[in-house]
Amino acid sequence: MRWNVLKTAVCLGTGLILYYIKYGYLAIAYIKKRCGGPTCRCSLKLDNKFVIVTGGTSGLGLVVTEKLAYRGASIIFTARNLDEGLAIQECLRAKTKNPNIFCKHLDLNNFASIHNFVSDVNQLCSKVDLLINNAGVFFYPPKETVDKYDVTFQTNYLGHFLLTELLVPKLADKSRVIFVSSAAHSLTKSLDLSTVFVVDEGAQGISARFQNYANSKLCLLLYSKNFAQRFKERGVNVYSVDPGSVETPMYRHFPFLTNPILKAIQKPIRFIVVRSPIQGAQTILHCALSPNLSSETGLYYADLVAKASSDLSQDVQLSSQLYDHSRIWAGLSQSEVLA
Ligand SMILES: NC(=O)c1ccc[n+]([C@@H]2O[C@H](COP(=O)([O-])OP(=O)(O)OC[C@H]3O[C@@H](n4cnc5c(N)ncnc54)[C@H](OP(=O)(O)O)[C@@H]3O)[C@@H](O)[C@H]2O)c1
Repeated sequence: MRWNVLKTAVCLGTGLILYYIKYGYLAIAYIKKRCGGPTCRCSLKLDNKFVIVTGGTSGLGLVVTEKLAYRGASIIFTARNLDEGLAIQECLRAKTKNPNIFCKHLDLNNFASIHNFVSDVNQLCSKVDLLINNAGVFFYPPKETVDKYDVTFQTNYLGHFLLTELLVPKLADKSRVIFVSSAAHSLTKSLDLSTVFVVDEGAQGISARFQNYANSKLCLLLYSKNFAQRFKERGVNVYSVDPGSVETPMYRHFPFLTNPILKAIQKPIRFIVVRSPIQGAQTILHCALSPNLSSETGLYYADLVAKASSDLSQDVQLSSQLYDHSRIWAGLSQSEVLA
């Protein structure tokens, strides 16, 4: 009798455990899929199209370069360490069977390097069909670049501003320019153009570094809207993209993820809710490829659809003031400013 009770209890217990494992697994798989976001289904081929991707050595930039190479595009991706970049170039050529992948040196923290890169582009191609301003840093300690701006500000915003302006003559009619933005832009509630570029070496705290990143991404978004308006008539389409939270080396300066214990604690939850680079790249690919977006410009996209960005990012006057300041900060002469 006792033996039968025990057997029944064990059977019930095992059944219950299997039930929880099965439904727990299904629930985790479901949440992970939802957090991963939608997939770009565009089938467009890019033969005879010329693409530039900044920061193609890791994370989102590497995935986007590879995916576009499979579609037949000629691609220049950038690296700060050219040896490393050339090794990646060879891997990508072999993997995608696309010989037209070129790595060129670009350090956005150095205006001279940006000018040199544009000369390289001029030599390699007669037009650019797609410019993806992807490179960026997060939570970088306050530090001055050779051009005397804050590293986060110059890498994420000012360097891309200069690069994009210098590439204007190369942009083909019906070309696309994509700015990789971030939902963090909405953390900035007011922007002071007299201080935003200044390095405050005392601002080492968590909120100051977040603020720095948010400011740089807000500037990028404001600039994207200004750029979209200026080149609308020429048929240049502009898109800003929030890729979501993506597991990439971008978090290398973020103390909650550089500390091995904190990292280990967060690993299971990050595995479920944080996107892989392939998942994070989907909206960038969608904005690069989708024929449905060809009549849209200056909008902000997440999960493949246009979304409202912060009120401040839509301030037309601020956007125009930022543009005027940026020309001076980046040392752009009047003849280099085309429209
Ligand atoms: N990961 C996320 O959760 C997330 C979320 C929202 C937005 N984003 C944005 O997505 C973009 C790509 O980030 P990721 O996550 O793919 O990070 P990542 O793996 O760290 O890639 C960043 C890329 O930018 C390049 N880069 C950094 N500083 C540079 C400079 N001064 N000049 C030229 N290139 C430079 C890096 O090249 P090196 O190899 O030379 O360092 C690297 O190729 C960034 O703009 C980031 O703000 C990411």
